[in-house]
Amino acid sequence: MTAPLHILALETSCDETAAAVVTLRGERIETCSEAVITQDEVHAEYGGVVPELASRAHLEKLTPAIRTALERAKIEPRALAAVAAGNRPGLIGSLLVGTSAAKAFAWAIGKPFLGVDHVQAHLAACHLDTDPPKYPAIGLVASGGHTHILALDSPLRARILARTRDDASGEAFDKAASILGLGWPGGPAIERAAASGNATAFEFEAGRFPGSADFSFSGLKTALLYAVRGVPSAPNRPQRPPPPPLDATRVADLCASFQAAVVRALEKGLERALDAHPASTLLAGGGVIRNGAVRAMLEQLAARRTLALHLTAARHCTDNAAMIGALAALRLAAGESDPLSLPAEPLSSLAAR
Ligand code: KG4
Ligand code: ZN
Repeated sequence: MTAPLHILALETSCDETAAAVVTLRGERIETCSEAVITQDEVHAEYGGVVPELASRAHLEKLTPAIRTALERAKIEPRALAAVAAGNRPGLIGSLLVGTSAAKAFAWAIGKPFLGVDHVQAHLAACHLDTDPPKYPAIGLVASGGHTHILALDSPLRARILARTRDDASGEAFDKAASILGLGWPGGPAIERAAASGNATAFEFEAGRFPGSADFSFSGLKTALLYAVRGVPSAPNRPQRPPPPPLDATRVADLCASFQAAVVRALEKGLERALDAHPASTLLAGGGVIRNGAVRAMLEQLAARRTLALHLTAARHCTDNAAMIGALAALRLAAGESDPLSLPAEPLSSLAAR
């Protein structure tokens, strides 16, 4: 058996400053240590991520995060086999911090650098601390910035089968929570409130497109807005009655109905993608995959279609550096690395269809 390879991985694409050490041992990728410094407090008062504040916070927090990850792993820098960062897609100022730091670290220790795609890394997280999934696979990435269905011939060969045409599913949760005054990030708040609500109280439905597995969540958000604030009256038409007051029962019912509509949309998109591209394995990652109703839907779908289901562990669903390390480990094992001239890029390089 070949010697284990330790990789230092950095993630700074949005509002989490994260460093991790992962270890490639044969075919298995283990999370050796992690340090995540969340910026929730920095952005909470704005109800969303402020890009300039995010990159400044990364600058302050990345070195302590790297130091903590290496200390927890008890690994000297020179024992690392490579240094990796998510270099795309994301907020460009934030990506630059992690990508530049990873390049500098790799150069300083004379080891390879790898820049990996954050969206693809959300699915590579399914490889962490478990037996590797079998391919070909269909993967769902549902997060604050992305809602994609990917076809993966292998862990490294991914194509986009479907994507959202407007808001991402996590963004829809965040905006719904903001409309309801439930705080930010919104997904966990909506899930908590939905637990005591009636999912059939409101007839919410996400948008769909004929002959396509693409998603649309923007109209669903507007439907919720109208249920809360009332439907605007057309000019020169009588005023519509105001909606009932927003008491705890109504909030719970709105959350449960909204969450159920998102779950149905993800399920329908996956059904369509699987009809067109049969696969034996279903992968899922991204912040929204933390949601219990989403996880239950995926379990039922996999059972119905006899698919091997690999759900990202809850702690690796939201942005983290171990998932960057997982994709970097898979690439390193395939003999790949990147030049130090590799740029940070705001867009994913995953090809469509
Ligand atoms: O993967 P992630 O950390 O960031 C992006 O790559 O965008 O995902 C963050 C998103 C947020 O929109 C958050 O509201 C959502 O994941 N999220 C959830 C839950 N936990 C986090 N959405 C629904 N239910 C949850 N329990
Ligand atoms: Zn993400």
